[in-house]
Amino acid sequence: MTLDRTAPKVMPLEYRHAPSDLSDRVAYGLTKMLRIFADTFFRKRYGHRAVVLETVAAVPGMVGGMLNHLKSLRRFQDDRGWIHTLLSEAENERMHLMTFIAVAKPNWFERILIILAQGVFFNAFFLLYLFAPRTAHRLVGYFEEEAVVSYTQYLAQIDAGHLPNPPAPELAIDYWKLPSDATLRDVVIAVRQDEAGHRDMNHAFAEELCRRPKDGAQLADPGKESDLAPAA
Ligand SMILES: [Fe+2]
Ligand SMILES: [Fe+2]
Repeated sequence: MTLDRTAPKVMPLEYRHAPSDLSDRVAYGLTKMLRIFADTFFRKRYGHRAVVLETVAAVPGMVGGMLNHLKSLRRFQDDRGWIHTLLSEAENERMHLMTFIAVAKPNWFERILIILAQGVFFNAFFLLYLFAPRTAHRLVGYFEEEAVVSYTQYLAQIDAGHLPNPPAPELAIDYWKLPSDATLRDVVIAVRQDEAGHRDMNHAFAEELCRRPKDGAQLADPGKESDLAPAA
Protein backbone atom coordinates (compact mmCIF):
# COMPACT_ATOMS: atom_id res chain seq x y z
CA MET A 1 0.00 0.00 0.00
CA THR A 2 1.29 3.45 -0.86
CA LEU A 3 0.69 6.11 1.74
CA ASP A 4 2.84 8.65 -0.09
CA ARG A 5 3.47 11.96 1.65
CA THR A 6 0.94 11.45 4.43
CA ALA A 7 1.81 8.42 6.55
CA PRO A 8 -0.03 8.21 9.88
CA LYS A 9 1.31 6.62 13.03
CA VAL A 10 1.04 2.84 12.72
CA MET A 11 -1.30 1.56 15.40
CA PRO A 12 -1.52 -2.02 16.77
CA LEU A 13 -3.69 -4.43 14.81
CA GLU A 14 -6.44 -4.39 17.44
CA TYR A 15 -6.57 -0.57 17.72
CA ARG A 16 -10.03 0.98 18.11
CA HIS A 17 -10.77 4.69 17.95
CA ALA A 18 -13.13 5.75 20.75
CA PRO A 19 -15.89 8.04 19.41
CA SER A 20 -15.45 11.50 20.92
CA ASP A 21 -18.20 13.68 19.46
CA LEU A 22 -21.46 13.55 17.49
CA SER A 23 -19.71 13.14 14.14
CA ASP A 24 -17.75 10.17 15.47
CA ARG A 25 -20.83 8.65 17.08
CA VAL A 26 -22.83 8.87 13.84
CA ALA A 27 -20.00 7.16 11.95
CA TYR A 28 -19.60 4.55 14.69
CA GLY A 29 -23.33 3.82 14.95
CA LEU A 30 -23.67 3.44 11.18
CA THR A 31 -20.71 1.06 11.12
CA LYS A 32 -22.12 -1.11 13.91
CA MET A 33 -25.52 -1.23 12.19
CA LEU A 34 -23.97 -2.33 8.90
CA ARG A 35 -21.83 -4.88 10.77
CA ILE A 36 -24.97 -6.55 12.15
CA PHE A 37 -26.42 -6.70 8.64
CA ALA A 38 -23.20 -8.19 7.20
CA ASP A 39 -22.85 -10.74 10.04
CA THR A 40 -26.47 -11.84 9.61
CA PHE A 41 -26.21 -12.13 5.84
CA PHE A 42 -22.80 -13.79 5.44
CA ARG A 43 -22.42 -15.68 8.74
CA LYS A 44 -19.23 -17.75 8.32
CA ARG A 45 -18.97 -17.45 4.52
CA TYR A 46 -15.83 -15.35 4.74
CA GLY A 47 -14.79 -15.70 1.08
CA HIS A 48 -18.16 -14.43 -0.13
CA ARG A 49 -18.14 -11.73 2.52
CA ALA A 50 -14.73 -10.56 1.31
CA VAL A 51 -15.85 -10.40 -2.34
CA VAL A 52 -19.06 -8.46 -1.69
CA LEU A 53 -17.62 -6.05 0.89
CA GLU A 54 -14.44 -5.34 -1.08
CA THR A 55 -16.64 -4.05 -3.92
CA VAL A 56 -17.88 -1.46 -1.42
CA ALA A 57 -14.50 -0.86 0.25
CA ALA A 58 -12.95 0.29 -3.03
CA VAL A 59 -15.43 3.17 -3.38
CA PRO A 60 -14.47 5.72 -0.64
CA GLY A 61 -10.87 6.21 -1.77
CA MET A 62 -12.01 6.94 -5.32
CA VAL A 63 -14.72 9.38 -4.14
CA GLY A 64 -12.39 11.12 -1.67
CA GLY A 65 -9.57 11.24 -4.22
CA MET A 66 -11.88 12.69 -6.87
CA LEU A 67 -13.38 15.34 -4.59
CA ASN A 68 -9.97 16.40 -3.29
CA HIS A 69 -8.70 16.55 -6.87
CA LEU A 70 -11.55 18.87 -7.85
CA LYS A 71 -11.00 20.99 -4.74
CA SER A 72 -7.30 21.32 -5.51
CA LEU A 73 -8.19 22.52 -9.03
CA ARG A 74 -10.72 25.06 -7.73
CA ARG A 75 -8.52 26.43 -4.95
CA PHE A 76 -5.14 26.24 -6.74
CA GLN A 77 -4.07 24.47 -3.56
CA ASP A 78 -1.55 21.71 -2.88
CA ASP A 79 -3.13 18.52 -1.58
CA ARG A 80 -0.17 17.36 0.57
CA GLY A 81 -0.42 13.92 -0.98
CA TRP A 82 -4.05 13.25 -0.04
CA ILE A 83 -5.24 12.58 -3.59
CA HIS A 84 -2.58 10.00 -4.37
CA THR A 85 -3.03 8.32 -0.98
CA LEU A 86 -6.81 8.03 -1.43
CA LEU A 87 -6.59 6.77 -5.00
CA SER A 88 -3.95 4.25 -3.87
CA GLU A 89 -6.35 3.06 -1.19
CA ALA A 90 -9.05 2.52 -3.84
CA GLU A 91 -6.59 0.59 -6.03
CA ASN A 92 -5.44 -1.51 -3.07
CA GLU A 93 -9.05 -2.39 -2.20
CA ARG A 94 -9.73 -3.30 -5.83
CA MET A 95 -6.76 -5.69 -5.69
CA HIS A 96 -8.30 -7.29 -2.59
CA LEU A 97 -11.40 -7.90 -4.71
CA MET A 98 -9.39 -9.29 -7.65
CA THR A 99 -7.70 -11.66 -5.18
CA PHE A 100 -10.80 -12.93 -3.42
CA ILE A 101 -12.75 -13.41 -6.64
CA ALA A 102 -10.21 -16.17 -7.32
CA VAL A 103 -11.17 -17.75 -3.98
CA ALA A 104 -14.97 -17.37 -3.94
CA LYS A 105 -17.45 -16.65 -6.72
CA PRO A 106 -20.52 -14.62 -5.77
CA ASN A 107 -23.89 -16.24 -6.37
CA TRP A 108 -26.60 -14.51 -8.43
CA PHE A 109 -28.17 -12.88 -5.38
CA GLU A 110 -24.82 -11.49 -4.26
CA ARG A 111 -24.21 -10.12 -7.75
CA ILE A 112 -27.48 -8.19 -7.57
CA LEU A 113 -26.57 -7.03 -4.07
CA ILE A 114 -23.18 -5.78 -5.36
CA ILE A 115 -24.84 -3.71 -8.10
CA LEU A 116 -27.45 -2.24 -5.75
CA ALA A 117 -24.89 -1.58 -3.00
CA GLN A 118 -22.60 0.26 -5.42
CA GLY A 119 -25.44 2.45 -6.68
CA VAL A 120 -26.56 3.39 -3.19
CA PHE A 121 -23.18 3.57 -1.46
CA PHE A 122 -21.37 5.59 -4.14
CA ASN A 123 -24.02 8.30 -4.10
CA ALA A 124 -24.46 8.31 -0.33
CA PHE A 125 -20.73 8.46 0.31
CA PHE A 126 -20.27 11.17 -2.34
CA LEU A 127 -22.81 13.38 -0.57
CA LEU A 128 -21.38 12.58 2.85
CA TYR A 129 -17.85 13.47 1.72
CA LEU A 130 -19.05 16.64 0.02
CA PHE A 131 -20.81 17.99 3.12
CA ALA A 132 -19.05 16.20 6.01
CA PRO A 133 -15.60 14.96 4.93
CA ARG A 134 -14.46 14.41 8.51
CA THR A 135 -17.39 12.10 9.23
CA ALA A 136 -16.72 10.35 5.91
CA HIS A 137 -13.10 9.61 6.84
CA ARG A 138 -14.13 8.55 10.36
CA LEU A 139 -16.74 6.22 8.86
CA VAL A 140 -14.10 4.58 6.67
CA GLY A 141 -11.78 4.35 9.69
CA TYR A 142 -14.49 2.44 11.57
CA PHE A 143 -15.29 0.27 8.51
CA GLU A 144 -11.61 -0.66 8.38
CA GLU A 145 -11.59 -1.55 12.09
CA GLU A 146 -14.37 -4.02 11.32
CA ALA A 147 -12.47 -5.30 8.27
CA VAL A 148 -9.49 -6.11 10.52
CA VAL A 149 -11.84 -8.03 12.86
CA SER A 150 -13.43 -9.94 9.96
CA TYR A 151 -10.10 -10.97 8.45
CA THR A 152 -8.89 -12.06 11.91
CA GLN A 153 -11.99 -14.27 12.16
CA TYR A 154 -11.35 -15.57 8.62
CA LEU A 155 -7.80 -16.45 9.70
CA ALA A 156 -9.06 -18.23 12.83
CA GLN A 157 -11.41 -20.36 10.71
CA ILE A 158 -8.52 -21.36 8.41
CA ASP A 159 -6.23 -22.12 11.37
CA ALA A 160 -8.94 -24.23 13.02
CA GLY A 161 -9.30 -26.26 9.82
CA HIS A 162 -12.91 -25.18 9.30
CA LEU A 163 -12.02 -23.50 5.99
CA PRO A 164 -9.60 -24.76 3.33
CA ASN A 165 -6.18 -23.18 2.91
CA PRO A 166 -5.47 -23.53 -0.83
CA PRO A 167 -2.39 -22.11 -2.59
CA ALA A 168 -2.52 -18.31 -2.91
CA PRO A 169 -3.80 -17.00 -6.26
CA GLU A 170 -0.95 -16.10 -8.66
CA LEU A 171 -2.13 -12.49 -8.76
CA ALA A 172 -1.83 -12.22 -4.96
CA ILE A 173 1.69 -13.71 -4.97
CA ASP A 174 2.76 -11.06 -7.52
CA TYR A 175 0.97 -8.16 -5.82
CA TRP A 176 2.20 -8.76 -2.24
CA LYS A 177 5.48 -10.37 -3.37
CA LEU A 178 4.69 -13.53 -1.40
CA PRO A 179 6.78 -16.73 -1.61
CA SER A 180 5.75 -19.02 -4.48
CA ASP A 181 4.36 -21.59 -2.00
CA ALA A 182 2.20 -18.99 -0.18
CA THR A 183 -1.32 -20.01 0.80
CA LEU A 184 -4.64 -18.27 1.35
CA ARG A 185 -3.61 -17.79 4.99
CA ASP A 186 -0.66 -15.61 3.91
CA VAL A 187 -2.97 -13.60 1.67
CA VAL A 188 -5.49 -12.98 4.47
CA ILE A 189 -2.66 -11.75 6.72
CA ALA A 190 -1.43 -9.37 3.99
CA VAL A 191 -4.93 -8.06 3.32
CA ARG A 192 -5.59 -7.56 7.04
CA GLN A 193 -2.40 -5.51 7.29
CA ASP A 194 -3.61 -3.33 4.39
CA GLU A 195 -6.94 -2.78 6.16
CA ALA A 196 -5.15 -1.71 9.35
CA GLY A 197 -3.20 0.80 7.24
CA HIS A 198 -6.42 2.19 5.72
CA ARG A 199 -7.88 2.43 9.22
CA ASP A 200 -4.95 4.47 10.54
CA MET A 201 -4.86 6.67 7.44
CA ASN A 202 -8.57 7.49 7.51
CA HIS A 203 -8.64 8.16 11.25
CA ALA A 204 -5.62 10.45 10.74
CA PHE A 205 -7.41 12.31 7.93
CA ALA A 206 -10.46 12.72 10.19
CA GLU A 207 -8.23 14.14 12.94
CA GLU A 208 -6.63 16.54 10.48
CA LEU A 209 -10.04 17.82 9.36
CA CYS A 210 -11.17 17.99 12.99
CA ARG A 211 -8.41 20.49 13.67
CA ARG A 212 -9.57 22.70 10.80
CA PRO A 213 -13.36 22.70 10.89
CA LYS A 214 -13.61 26.17 9.33
CA ASP A 215 -11.31 25.30 6.46
CA GLY A 216 -13.89 22.81 5.74
CA ALA A 217 -12.18 21.12 3.56
CA GLN A 218 -11.05 18.01 1.98
CA LEU A 219 -7.56 19.54 1.85
CA ALA A 220 -5.18 20.45 4.61
CA ASP A 221 -3.75 23.94 4.56
CA PRO A 222 -0.41 23.46 2.83
CA GLY A 223 1.20 26.27 4.78
CA LYS A 224 0.62 24.73 8.19
CA GLU A 225 2.23 21.92 10.12
CA SER A 226 0.46 18.58 10.19
CA ASP A 227 0.69 15.42 12.26
CA LEU A 228 0.46 13.53 9.01
CA ALA A 229 4.19 13.27 8.67
CA PRO A 230 5.78 12.68 5.29
CA ALA A 231 6.45 9.03 4.62
CA ALA A 232 10.03 7.83 4.77
FE1 LIG B 1 -10.04 -4.50 1.55
FE1 LIG C 1 -9.72 -1.36 3.59
